[in-house]
Amino acid sequence: MSHMLSRKMSDIHSFARPEEVVVRHLRLDLDVDFERKRLTGSATLDFETSAGARELVLDTHGLDVERVTYADGSAATFAIGDSQPHLGSPLTIGLHPDTKSVTVHYASAPDAAAVQWLSPEQTAGGKHPFLFTQSQAILARTWVPIQDSPGVRITYDATIRVPKELMAVMSAENATELSADGVYHFRMPQAVPAYLLALAVGDLEFRSLGRNSGVWAEKPMIEASAYELADTQKMIDAAEAIYGPYRWGQYDVLVLPPSFPFGGMENPRLTFATPTILAGDRSLVNLVAHELAHSWSGNLVTNATWNDFWLNEGFTVYFERRIMEAISGRDYSEMLALLGRQDLEATVAELPPRDTHLFLDLTGRDPDEAATKLPYEKGYFLLRLIEESVSRAKWDAFLREYFDRHAFQSMTTDAFLEELTAAFPELERRIDVHLWVHGPGIPDNAPIVHSDAFTKVEEQVRAFDSGTPAAQLAAQKWSTHEWIHFLRHLPRDLSREQLAELDAAFQFTASGNSEILHEWLLQAIEHHYDPAYDALERFLLRQGRRKFLKPLYQKLAESSEGFERARRIYAKARPMYHAVSYRTIDQILKW
Ligand code: BES
Ligand code: ZN
Repeated sequence: MSHMLSRKMSDIHSFARPEEVVVRHLRLDLDVDFERKRLTGSATLDFETSAGARELVLDTHGLDVERVTYADGSAATFAIGDSQPHLGSPLTIGLHPDTKSVTVHYASAPDAAAVQWLSPEQTAGGKHPFLFTQSQAILARTWVPIQDSPGVRITYDATIRVPKELMAVMSAENATELSADGVYHFRMPQAVPAYLLALAVGDLEFRSLGRNSGVWAEKPMIEASAYELADTQKMIDAAEAIYGPYRWGQYDVLVLPPSFPFGGMENPRLTFATPTILAGDRSLVNLVAHELAHSWSGNLVTNATWNDFWLNEGFTVYFERRIMEAISGRDYSEMLALLGRQDLEATVAELPPRDTHLFLDLTGRDPDEAATKLPYEKGYFLLRLIEESVSRAKWDAFLREYFDRHAFQSMTTDAFLEELTAAFPELERRIDVHLWVHGPGIPDNAPIVHSDAFTKVEEQVRAFDSGTPAAQLAAQKWSTHEWIHFLRHLPRDLSREQLAELDAAFQFTASGNSEILHEWLLQAIEHHYDPAYDALERFLLRQGRRKFLKPLYQKLAESSEGFERARRIYAKARPMYHAVSYRTIDQILKW
């Protein structure tokens, strides 16, 4: 074959050279060994080669590679290069001219960053161990030897062996019943990048939520999870009405134990989610809309490199809010957008200007460090600006075709901009897309979001500030989002007495809503409101979502007393956090 196998997009976060040899299919065969905290077995890779290619280069990070074989079982030559910070080591395998497939026999390391091994005490059931993976951005290579670049797609199948009483699920077609012998077979017929490889093993139960949706959780959590996620099918239907067919068959959500480091992860067919979305009133389910939206933006049309991350996340936030608008109304989605605008301003204030461009330069950096709110919210506001400039009807038509045309492909920022300009030639002059993508900060023409509901909240903040007792504020029917807005806009010079009064009126310290509690605890730390300190410690000990941990530990670290307290809590909490979270907190607390 002489044609180029893959456009050279030079992914600086991968050693792979897909323009020479490109992996098309992965066959995993793994034993899940809870005792030794290892996944052991093999990965068979089928690939295509361009003329003259004599090496297949894979990404690995901490894998113990025992041997590599060809299809006939004979030994292949291989070498593992020096380990580089963040990236791990290239695994270079020698090929014969007609080699089409190799098998890597290996084991993952007990401290593989993608994998968290939970003891029974760290689960809801308390009886069985649990395992889950988190491969985005470049952690797939810590459990699978693979071309770990979002510009390379594979289909896969897998055989996974687990202790008999446990269920295994993957980002693939899943059985819904326990197998008798602990052996599970998976098939993923749609091509996906390596960062969407995912596995979870535990005492899991499945509940259908509709035509092609369902929820997985540990038994003690299944009822609450099914209640919270009851609108999932409606979201799928709303999404399809906007951007065309859902192309992945089934859409399930797995509600994980509380150490899951993210809110959600868009693993195909099986979103992984934090249990901190279980507020009891379905008020945090925009997270499901977000992960579902990735089934178009991200999983179908994928950022070619992590520098193009905004193509995944900015598009997805835009689509998330469109889905929420469709099912909960414009007032609702505008509250989300306004909270997003606040996040964006706070993020821009924190980051060096270079890191506030939509197109990022992550040379020499871990892409995980760049996973700030910026690509999410600045991306959202650019897409909304385009919508408002060209009309929703035209913009939707463009996106629908875009997802169709590029389904199961990757996309660079430049290629997207070219298509945008071709479709809307006048746009560049009117809104200066280039400045949005390659310039810093929030451009002046960012759309203005308006929320009457939030204006009313601000009135109540002013009333409180000028002496109205907390108990008399007009806050009876507030939603979670209004409470968040209220807490973010409290006067800076609150006294402890005022905090106590608010707490007595609204029971913030006892809140079971993770987002509200989080905002309240930030205020409590800021104002040294010690009646909330126990609740703070319990919150830091009972969940490991980085979005909550990072700001709380950061705020604590601002005072020397708080810093010491944070370190005392962290000593107890750290063993239960996933690597993605503890690596971030280690830096904050100089661990
Ligand atoms: N794909 C991301 C999570 C992610 C990003 C993992 C970068 C690793 C590196 C996921 O879709 C996401 O954005 N999750 C958000 C929730 C969302 C509602 C903004 C989260 O976890 O907070
Ligand atoms: Zn996302």
